[in-house]
Amino acid sequence: MTPSPVIELRGAGKSYPGGVHALRGVDLTVEEGELVAVVGPSGSGKSTMLNLMGTLDRPTTGTVRIAGYDVSELSDARLSALRARHIGFVFQHFHLAAGRDAVDNVADGLLYAGVPPKERRARAREALAGVGLDHRRSHTPNELSGGEKQRVAIARALVGEPRLLLADEPTGALDTASGALVMELLHRLNASGTTICVITHDNEIADALPRRVRFRDGAIVSDLHSGPRTGSRTEGTGACARVEGAGSRARTEGAGS
Ligand SMILES: Nc1ncnc2c1ncn2[C@@H]1O[C@H](COP(=O)(O)OP(=O)(O)OP(=O)(O)O)[C@@H](O)[C@H]1O
Ligand SMILES: [Mg+2]
Repeated sequence: MTPSPVIELRGAGKSYPGGVHALRGVDLTVEEGELVAVVGPSGSGKSTMLNLMGTLDRPTTGTVRIAGYDVSELSDARLSALRARHIGFVFQHFHLAAGRDAVDNVADGLLYAGVPPKERRARAREALAGVGLDHRRSHTPNELSGGEKQRVAIARALVGEPRLLLADEPTGALDTASGALVMELLHRLNASGTTICVITHDNEIADALPRRVRFRDGAIVSDLHSGPRTGSRTEGTGACARVEGAGSRARTEGAGS
């Protein structure tokens, strides 16, 4: 059987009261193992689309399917389960809990995954080591640099081994060197099988990614592929190519528990 795309938007629109059309009928398919840059001017709908992909919001028109599930057909509880199992988030301003050390912040990424507290902390330490921060694990956010905070946030997003990582301007608040480290980390994760969509204002960062989706006024104006995919799968051809094979890790299917 051909696997479902990780993300499938069909005519996806998002309007707000007062006639704001943040997203206008977007069609987009993202296959397992892709690494996609989302670019475009401020206010063009990038975050709105990422929120739909992350099931943090539902479309007002069209359909959003994540891992094969139609978001509009799932209850809030099932959506939470889908998020906990399949999706990790990274934001521009880290969103770490103040006063809690790096291990606790990362362990929080497993809060809704039904993992016992002791195992949460053990897995958090592993995830921190994976982003090169084992030596900072007892530091609270105010004792970390911006780049280190973002690496903690990435470890938190990844500790549950999501198949999809969504990042909204993850380098936006970082200097060039820290930003490069964060992007290196994302490339590595993608190479190990994680599907990634990353919003960026940085053309240099976008140009280094294998696919670039450009927005204007709530719509996609271009969708460019270049070079081989960096993910560990058979190469696809074009935007909607289906790619056989699963991720490098075993995935548990299903939105519910
Ligand atoms: N909750 C809301 N209520 C009303 N309008 C909204 C809401 N959220 C976003 N918008 C509007 O939707 C449009 C798209 O916003 P969005 O945040 O997706 O833009 P963006 O491309 O992420 O911009 P930026 O690069 O500045 O982050 C904007 O015009 C914005 O003002
Ligand atoms: Mg935005």
